[in-house]
Amino acid sequence: MNKSKEAPIGVFDSGLGGLTVAREIMRNLPMERIVYFGDTARVPYGSKSEQTVQRYSRQIVSFLKTQNVKAIVVACNTATAFALDIVREEAGVPVIGVIEPGARIACDITRNGRVGVIATRATIESRAYNDAIREIRPDINVIGKACPLLCPLVEEGWIHDRITEEIIMRYLDDVLENEIDTLILGCTHYPLLRSTIRKLIGDGISLVNPAYETARDLKRLLGEYDIAAQDPPEAGEPTPYRFFVSDEAQRFADFANSILPIDVKTARLVPIEEY
Ligand code: DGL
Repeated sequence: MNKSKEAPIGVFDSGLGGLTVAREIMRNLPMERIVYFGDTARVPYGSKSEQTVQRYSRQIVSFLKTQNVKAIVVACNTATAFALDIVREEAGVPVIGVIEPGARIACDITRNGRVGVIATRATIESRAYNDAIREIRPDINVIGKACPLLCPLVEEGWIHDRITEEIIMRYLDDVLENEIDTLILGCTHYPLLRSTIRKLIGDGISLVNPAYETARDLKRLLGEYDIAAQDPPEAGEPTPYRFFVSDEAQRFADFANSILPIDVKTARLVPIEEY
């Protein structure tokens, strides 16, 4: 295990969505360096099989190991649902995913025990949120809904758009019929739709963004292993945040710039199939 406290944290996603998790890590753990990998050549993961997502995740872990990461955050619900155990086996460093933290916060928040989850088809079919919630509170009723059209709409930048609103309502209609009081944004792209969803469903339902709790869990994990960074990035040190992708580096950098509190100049291409 790489014990250097100043080593980076590896964060990965199928593409852009995991930046919402990276953003929370930057806000909550400002001393930490980050190596982010977005699998922009092979996105979406949400319509792929378990085996394929596991193979992709293994390759990404091999790549992150070359970057000497001290911990890994699986910043993708689909990869967490399908590959968290495999990543844990292969990483050789502490690993967290986004599902358990999201499930835990939903269990804390719900008053009526009726929790909705919106996510990719793969995450919903895996029932990973149902299982994680049942572990904590077996009395909670989980209503899952796959929303495969939402990721492309986010990537297109159609956040506040009439078409997007109609699609969200089409997906949420039957979830809302179940009188949920809590809705988990179970895909890392969806926090970018938070204000649109809030406008559509009103204030009566709590929205859970698992990224917040994931950043807090990461802080606890770094403390537990005594690997939290002690020194802020030095002046003259190359940027504390490095971005790697498998395709479309400039498009990724532009998107990252629009949602992160930092200036992302470039992302570097990685031939991920070779790992
Ligand atoms: N970021 C992925 C997730 O959280 C969704 C995008 C995809 O389908 O690859 O599940």
